[in-house]
Amino acid sequence: MSFIKLPPINIENALDEAAINPAIFSHIDEVKSQIDLHGYCITANAIDIAAIDRMKNFWSGFINKKNIDRKFVRGNLVLGESNFLSYSDIPSWCMYRNFDFYWNKPTHCLTSEICLKLNSLRNSLQGFESDFGTQFNQDNYGIYVSTSLYSVGKGHFRMHADAHGETPILHFMIPLTFKGEDYNEGGLFIENKRGDAVDIDSQCDKGALIFFDGRCSHGVKTIQGKGIGRLVVFAIPTYFETGSRLEVFARSLKVFIEEYIDKFFFLKAVRSFLGRIKSFLRNY
Ligand SMILES: [Fe+2]
Repeated sequence: MSFIKLPPINIENALDEAAINPAIFSHIDEVKSQIDLHGYCITANAIDIAAIDRMKNFWSGFINKKNIDRKFVRGNLVLGESNFLSYSDIPSWCMYRNFDFYWNKPTHCLTSEICLKLNSLRNSLQGFESDFGTQFNQDNYGIYVSTSLYSVGKGHFRMHADAHGETPILHFMIPLTFKGEDYNEGGLFIENKRGDAVDIDSQCDKGALIFFDGRCSHGVKTIQGKGIGRLVVFAIPTYFETGSRLEVFARSLKVFIEEYIDKFFFLKAVRSFLGRIKSFLRNY
């Protein structure tokens, strides 16, 4: 078991502006060594429970069939694209996932603020600059906020591993619903460094924060029981695609038409002006 219990959040140990327990920043070495040893680390009391309630209330209302506007995608996200909510039900996975990009207005401000702060914490754990993933860079590397809902009776995700070539992906996850309350069976399983599949969700109470090395095989076993299911927020690092060729072609075509119209009216105006000069000279 890889579990760190932070001191409870109280007046002496006040929250920071993103509702994160500041004690976590003084436990970075401990969290890092647990991840190195086991492949994951669960930190209790990391996030303010009032903030968890606010996020749960918002996302459980927002994520529904009428707000879906895409199919779920993995990778190939384009710089500048709009936020979207997706749903897919295929043998490999069944889930709702909302994608929020930091160049757009956030769907839920508190969620985006918390993820921004936790991305900075993740960067410290990986030895990166604190703003890595949220500043322009030549590799188009950045993060997006992912909010997933695995519904009861259907929601699942096959076991898989995540990495960016040589660079490991260190995931963090904030559970907004809990095993035993919002569903009874299934949930996140991670293969630890010894190769044992660990039931992560059964160890998480409200306010917990999960870190894990994306290279460890992980997946979500089918959610069963009663309740809204498994709702979780995290910010995923990715290499964004640059603008699509179709959009560049559409822009070029628009410019061509605009210039053509502009020249047409300019020539018409010049001809009309010359015509008036001619008629003026004739009558003079
Ligand atoms: Fe993954």
